[in-house]
Amino acid sequence: MAIRNIREIGEEVLTKKAREVTEMTPRIRELIEDMLETMYEANGVGLAAPQVGVLKRIVVIDVTGEDPHILINPRIVETSGEQTGQEGCLSVPGKSGQVTRPNYVKAVALDVNMKETELEGTELLARAICHEVDHLDGHLYVEKVEGPLQDVSADDDEEE
Ligand code: NI
Repeated sequence: MAIRNIREIGEEVLTKKAREVTEMTPRIRELIEDMLETMYEANGVGLAAPQVGVLKRIVVIDVTGEDPHILINPRIVETSGEQTGQEGCLSVPGKSGQVTRPNYVKAVALDVNMKETELEGTELLARAICHEVDHLDGHLYVEKVEGPLQDVSADDDEEE
């Protein structure tokens, strides 16, 4: 496993639509392991493959630090409610901003064995799912931010 370099806002790879994964390979397994390690090392709660420079539809999410989720080709199939709160992103270091998201989200995806799986969550998990799926379509939360971006200290706040 290895820590990968996290791409930052301004880099073109973060604005592109990622491609579907059609088969699991040793290389993709390694990418997923590296994404988890990179996310934990950066104290993030989520990371999408484009953030490490790979245009594949893969995200990892762990909002508690002990409950990793791996979603391949995720699709949001259900949302409800609304939450407004501070959001950050590992690709936009040192900043946060207010974003409104659904309070409940259900996604379908493939797991590491390319079997269909589901992930549903509320609050931070719902927010993270939306945020990471946005990355796969080349979108950053700063496009949705309400009001100005704020400076945050490095060890505050969850980042995705
Ligand atoms: Ni992000």
